[in-house]
Amino acid sequence: MSEKKEKISAIKGMNDILPADAPLWELFENTAESVLKSYGYQKIVTPIVEETGLFARAIGAVTDIVEKEMYSFTDAMNGDLLTLRPEGTAGVVRAVVEHNMAYDGPKRLWYKGPMFRHERPQRGRYRQFFQFGAEAIGFSGPDIDAELIMLCRRLWDDIGLDEIRLELNSIGNADERQRHRADLIAYFEANIDVLDAEAKRRLHANPLRILDTKNPAMQDLVNAAPQLLSYLGEESLAHFEGLKKILDAANVQYTVNPRLVRGLDYYNRTVFEWVTDALGAQGTVCAGGRYDPLIETFGGKPTPGIGFAMGIERLIELMKAQGEPAAPGQCDVYMVHQGDEARMKAFILAERIRDAGLDVVLHCATPAGAGSFKSQMKKADASGAAFAVIIGEDEVAKDEVAVKSLRAAQGENAQQATVAFGAAVDYLVDQIVGGGGEHDCGPDCDDHHHVHRP
Ligand code: HAM
Repeated sequence: MSEKKEKISAIKGMNDILPADAPLWELFENTAESVLKSYGYQKIVTPIVEETGLFARAIGAVTDIVEKEMYSFTDAMNGDLLTLRPEGTAGVVRAVVEHNMAYDGPKRLWYKGPMFRHERPQRGRYRQFFQFGAEAIGFSGPDIDAELIMLCRRLWDDIGLDEIRLELNSIGNADERQRHRADLIAYFEANIDVLDAEAKRRLHANPLRILDTKNPAMQDLVNAAPQLLSYLGEESLAHFEGLKKILDAANVQYTVNPRLVRGLDYYNRTVFEWVTDALGAQGTVCAGGRYDPLIETFGGKPTPGIGFAMGIERLIELMKAQGEPAAPGQCDVYMVHQGDEARMKAFILAERIRDAGLDVVLHCATPAGAGSFKSQMKKADASGAAFAVIIGEDEVAKDEVAVKSLRAAQGENAQQATVAFGAAVDYLVDQIVGGGGEHDCGPDCDDHHHVHRP
């Protein structure tokens, strides 16, 4: 007898997304993609691994992400210092500059994919997590800020999420932050006893980050700290007022949160977060802001930018918390068969049914064997299929199939029909889609997926 092997588990903080959750992910991703498309955003895909220096430069050296959360490693082949991307904006901006994408005008872009941060795993906080993000490059006015926010609202509406509120702030430009910074340092120095070790270390390097602290003992102190909003000059104020005016006119509710400064250094002016109370401590489901100086720091021509990213795991949790939609079945038709000849016919028929645009699961053998009719029918029931198609020796002999409805109401006589093998496809399409399900796309169309389920 062979020795039992030890199991290998996934890395802490990195999750498998199992088939049971797949329909929710699909619903989220499909809805997000169609909302982004409806605003004219185009997809961009950038590598998961980038040079470490990219993130240090974009996100800022004195930030949680760059100081302690990056998965960085040396490429054993050539000694390059590489990092698994902790977020998507840096890579998108690199690509925009590298391909000179903004030369012929502004761009609206979106992306999705895994991000990696070595954080302490807890509910809603993982080491690999998925983001859906958008970046609008080359637009300077508050109109694009409003568009991105309204795009998010449309997505929440389309998915049916209603417990999400918007927090908004402006962190001005570099000069305004500089004046604020001086006062902030003086304020924290006068209260040095209340600062924890991390805050003391950041006091001169990046005092704005102290406002971001999660330390409960420092909350009163940071709440009473000088607020960036009162340091804004005319142009920054006008931008912020312009944004609020559009949001008001579009009936978007928000609260101005003067403490909202975001944990990444590339921001200026508008910053925002969509927050829910339904998920505990990790309630920010989407966050973003303007980053006008960033493109220049990558050697591009001065080009404004703004974007956001949403944490998909958190949004899936919220969808679950608000009531899970019924899980769709695996397929429309489950093929049950017994005997070699029947199996061959089942294969052929399954392909024809798929040609007609329906989803078919064909029963296949397992180590326990091909399975009795009874056990195959159990699998058919569990699959969520509308119909089982049954082929046994009798059916083979008569060139027929039996079609059994699996969704007949309880107590109702389980409906079963006998159909000629050659008529089975039409029969199933008619039963599942009804008469009007085929689309009329002309004689040249070779898309076999002609069936549009009601
Ligand atoms: P961020 O605030 O670092 O911003 O992340 C955006 C969102 O990603 C968060 O609000 C949260 O929903 C999700 N998220 C972040 N970290 C984790 C984690 N460890 N586990 C689960 N979810 C997480 C950015 O990443 C910016 N790139 C957003 C942006 C785009 N700003 C401008 N353009």
